Amino acid sequence: MYAVTGATGQLGRLVIDALLATVPAGQIVAAVRNPAKAHDLAERGVLVREADYTRPETLATALVGVDKLLLISSTEVDGRLSLHRAVIDAARRAGVSLLAYTSMLHADTSPARLAIEHRQTEEVIAASGLPSVILRNGWYTENHLMALPAALEHGAFVGAANGGRFSSGARKDYAEAAVMALTTEGNAGKIYELAADNAFTLTELAAEVSRQSGKTVVYNDLAEDAYVSVLKGVGLPADLAGLLADADVAASRGALFDDTGTLARLIGRPTTPMVSLVGAALRG
Ligand SMILES: NC(=O)c1ccc[n+]([C@@H]2O[C@H](COP(=O)([O-])OP(=O)(O)OC[C@H]3O[C@@H](n4cnc5c(N)ncnc54)[C@H](OP(=O)(O)O)[C@@H]3O)[C@@H](O)[C@H]2O)c1
Repeated sequence: MYAVTGATGQLGRLVIDALLATVPAGQIVAAVRNPAKAHDLAERGVLVREADYTRPETLATALVGVDKLLLISSTEVDGRLSLHRAVIDAARRAGVSLLAYTSMLHADTSPARLAIEHRQTEEVIAASGLPSVILRNGWYTENHLMALPAALEHGAFVGAANGGRFSSGARKDYAEAAVMALTTEGNAGKIYELAADNAFTLTELAAEVSRQSGKTVVYNDLAEDAYVSVLKGVGLPADLAGLLADADVAASRGALFDDTGTLARLIGRPTTPMVSLVGAALRG
């Protein structure tokens, strides 16, 4: 039996879709914070179980009979480590044979503050003794494109990444990689640095948006504190704004670049190009 935490999230739903292509629905547990959000998954025959990282009792029951577990990292800005630890403890008690975890690209060496709790979670997993596979995911291209409506309106993307190259990939590709890690043999003990085949700068992203939309869109690079102010100005909480701006600065130093081709090898096909995701986002 396979279980996926955060299965009602954007990545989690794509993982369930990809799992359903390989595994019978009755062998899949959607381990979710709020089962009311998972009616559609239940209708597809997936077992929906409550699994809230903040309530360990739900984790124990959610993992009964589970053999292979994907822990999708929490969205909490701070304090994620204790939540992840609760899931890892529950997995150990449930006797899962493989724990996969969605970490961050180059989590062991990344200067980004966001990498700290991923690094710590990887350490807890290693100390647990559980067979594990670490999926160090690069940025989602879809995250860059969340700013698309504002970029089209104002004629500019803003950030603090300077000329940093992002090997950002499609969520769907990371989801397929997670499913390959869970369903194929030989992944225990592996750490995969997962990133798209072709990297881009934010200037190149803006140019592609211009090309496809017919509107002039540029990339305006800001100082870190100015970018934090912009993010807070559009409603992000201060701590999240600070982490995202810090990640951009880390990206300017290459933290979100990777050219090992590991993601393409794991999913057995080239990764989805940025141009396709820009097109899809423009079509809405
Ligand atoms: N690589 C990147 O660019 C990038 C960017 C953003 C995030 N991430 C990481 O990747 C993860 C997945 O991304 P995503 O886009 O799928 O995020 P998402 O759509 O926000 O999904 C996050 C999922 O985590 C669940 N969750 C949050 N707190 C929980 C808790 N206490 N107990 C159980 N489940 C909880 C949410 O449950 P509900 O459905 O009930 O809300 C949701 O299903 C994120 O959580 C984050 O750690 C990576």
